[in-house]
Amino acid sequence: MMSQLESLRQHSLVVADTGDIEAVARWKPQDATTNPSLILTSAADPRFRHLMHADMDRVFVNFGCEILKHIPGRVSTEVDARLSFDTGKSADRARRLVALYENAGVSRSRILIKLAATWEGVRAARELEREGIHCNMTLLFSFAQAVACADAGVTLISPFVGRIYDWHRQARKVDDIPIEEDPGVTSVTRIYGYYKKYGYKTQVMGASFRKTGQILALAGCDLLTIAPDLLEKLSSTPGPVERKLSPEKAAGIDMPKVALDETAFRWLFNEDVMASDKLAEGIRRFDADARKLEKLLISLGAAVTAK
Ligand code: E4P
Repeated sequence: MMSQLESLRQHSLVVADTGDIEAVARWKPQDATTNPSLILTSAADPRFRHLMHADMDRVFVNFGCEILKHIPGRVSTEVDARLSFDTGKSADRARRLVALYENAGVSRSRILIKLAATWEGVRAARELEREGIHCNMTLLFSFAQAVACADAGVTLISPFVGRIYDWHRQARKVDDIPIEEDPGVTSVTRIYGYYKKYGYKTQVMGASFRKTGQILALAGCDLLTIAPDLLEKLSSTPGPVERKLSPEKAAGIDMPKVALDETAFRWLFNEDVMASDKLAEGIRRFDADARKLEKLLISLGAAVTAK
C-alpha cells in the first residue's frame, strides 16, 4: 500500500527542511530549505566539518551547494536575521549570497533567498524579484504578512504552523490542540485560500511542523517543507491521504480583498499579539544561532567575519 508520504506527494510538492545533507540524499525531495538554526546543528556535526570555512554566508552557500547535488530543484538560504529591519542591507546580503552561488557554478534559478517577513524584508524581496532573485519569505505568522508578500510579487512564502501551535499551547496551558482547531493549520488554510481566490502567483509552502497531522491537514498546499523525523513517520505510515486544500475550494470562500500600505500593514500586524511575539522571537533565535555559528567558525580557526 502507498505510504502517507507517497500519497501526499500526489497533492503537494514535498520539500526537506534540514541542513543534514545525508538526510536530503536519503529523502530525495524536489527542493530543500535551510535556516541558521538547521545549519548550526549540521555545522556542529563532524560529518560536515569540511564545509566549515570562511564566513557565515560562505558556510550557508557551502551547505546549499552540497544539498543541490542531491536534488533537482531549489535550495533556500537565509539572509542574516540581524538585517531584518534594513531593506538595503538585506537586499545587498541577498545579492552577495547569489554571487557566491553563481561563483560556485549554481544558477540563481536554483536558489530561494529567505528573508524575514518584516515590512523591510518584504520591500527587499520586491527589489530582488525584479532582478531575477527569487525569495522565500520566512517567519510568517500572520495574514497581514502574507498579503504584503503577495502584493510585492515574491515567489514563495513559508507560513509557519508549529510555532503558532506552540504559542497557543503555551497561552492556553494545554499539552495539545486538536487538528480541527489548530491555529497554525487555520492560518495556512486562510492564506492559501486568499491567494488562490484572488489568483496570486506567490506560492504557499507550509513550514514548521510539530506532528504529521498538521502536515496531512494541509495536503494540497503548493509545497510543504518537512523535517526528516516527520518524513520518516509519513513514510512508515500507510496512506492514502485526502486532499484538503485546492484552488476549487478556495474559489468559493467568502473573503474580501485587502489592500495594505505600510501604515495599515504595521497596524494590522501589531494587532496580532501572537504574530508580533513570534516574529520578534524568531528573529532573536535565528540571530543567536547565527552568532553561535560564527563563534564555532572562530573556534575552528576558519573564520572571516562577513561584512
Ligand atoms: C522553514 O522554512 C522553517 O525555517 C522551519 O520550518 C522552522 O521550523 P521550526 O519551527 O521547527 O524551527
